[in-house]
Amino acid sequence: MKSIENAELKNKKVIIRVDYNVPLNENLEITDDNRIKESLKTINYCITHEAKIILLSHLGKVKEEKDLKTKSLRVVAKRLSELIKSPVTFIPKTRGIEVENAINNMKNGDIVMLENTRFEDLDGKKESGNNQELAKYWASLGDIFINDAFGTAHRAHASNVGIASNIKESYLGFLVLKEIENLSKVTNNPKKPFIVILGGAKVHDKIGTIENLIKKADYILVGGAMAYTFLYAKGLNIGKSLIDEDSLLFCQNLLKTTDKLILPIDHVVGESVNSKTKCVKTQLENNDMGLDIGPKTRELFKSYLKNSKTIFWNGPLGYTENKIFEEGTREIAKFISNLNTTSIVGGGDTAAVIINMGYAKKFTHISTGGGASLELIEGKELPGINI
Ligand code: 3PG
Repeated sequence: MKSIENAELKNKKVIIRVDYNVPLNENLEITDDNRIKESLKTINYCITHEAKIILLSHLGKVKEEKDLKTKSLRVVAKRLSELIKSPVTFIPKTRGIEVENAINNMKNGDIVMLENTRFEDLDGKKESGNNQELAKYWASLGDIFINDAFGTAHRAHASNVGIASNIKESYLGFLVLKEIENLSKVTNNPKKPFIVILGGAKVHDKIGTIENLIKKADYILVGGAMAYTFLYAKGLNIGKSLIDEDSLLFCQNLLKTTDKLILPIDHVVGESVNSKTKCVKTQLENNDMGLDIGPKTRELFKSYLKNSKTIFWNGPLGYTENKIFEEGTREIAKFISNLNTTSIVGGGDTAAVIINMGYAKKFTHISTGGGASLELIEGKELPGINI
């Protein structure tokens, strides 16, 4: 593992690939800056070691001209500057004379951030397709490359593996190293009992994760909308609850071969996701939509969690976008936060929910990578890490 601590940074132009793919609201304000906060350690280390820092990141997907207006990193540069308490020079370009001049004028400790790397996708997917001309150009801007974008480590793009293969020295930043260390507590001989909690909407996105974890875990507690596909596969009436038809066969087969899956035994029910009222039921009727785990299920889940030595959690247990359906997730998060166990949370929605609820500090690790953490847990090699 090539740690940033092995790099000789003084007087060097250091390109750091960060993952500042942060959520923005309709006013283009950042609604969760955790990924920016988590990147500060590496940037501060480079400042202290007298490097010149060039930051690259993507933001969202860039498919058409109008995305250039809504997917600019300018707002992120401003937030970074506030958090790091230092100026951040934002260059609204991904290449060209403006970029080169800004970099040539840098002094040690200065920070320059280029525009969203995926702006290059408008011209033949150059970033996402790891175009070598682009990768070589970006690599030519610096002396050393540091990949600290864990959330993007499952992608082989020009701004991560492309630069790494066209520059003399590449290292991994502190954020990536911390993610690998903590997620390996799940992938490499997790301490037993090992309990997995899975939620969120679709079974389909987590088939690989389930297949890998079912071998290692003592139990998998299933909540969120994905529980209804399993309940339907068992032949139960799930009313109007969300069902992932494509994964039905997978669920039926899995239920036949394992008794490690623990499904909800009662439900918080509404008429729709926007429902303003709710009630608890053990059996759903045709007009019911299951939107959270019920009180009996919460107690059942706690009975599995209380003696655990390792917990991995991915996916909210209810439709947390509507506050009246977040109680199940909150109660389980609170319960885990008081346990003496290794608790690891996959990134994405689950991370945001637990951070917003205020329990993050009590968990062992909250990943900054959604897809990346799932692929790592699935046992896949991440191209952005093997640089
Ligand atoms: C993420 O948020 O999962 C990463 O930033 C990767 O983004 P992507 O799924 O658009 O490639």
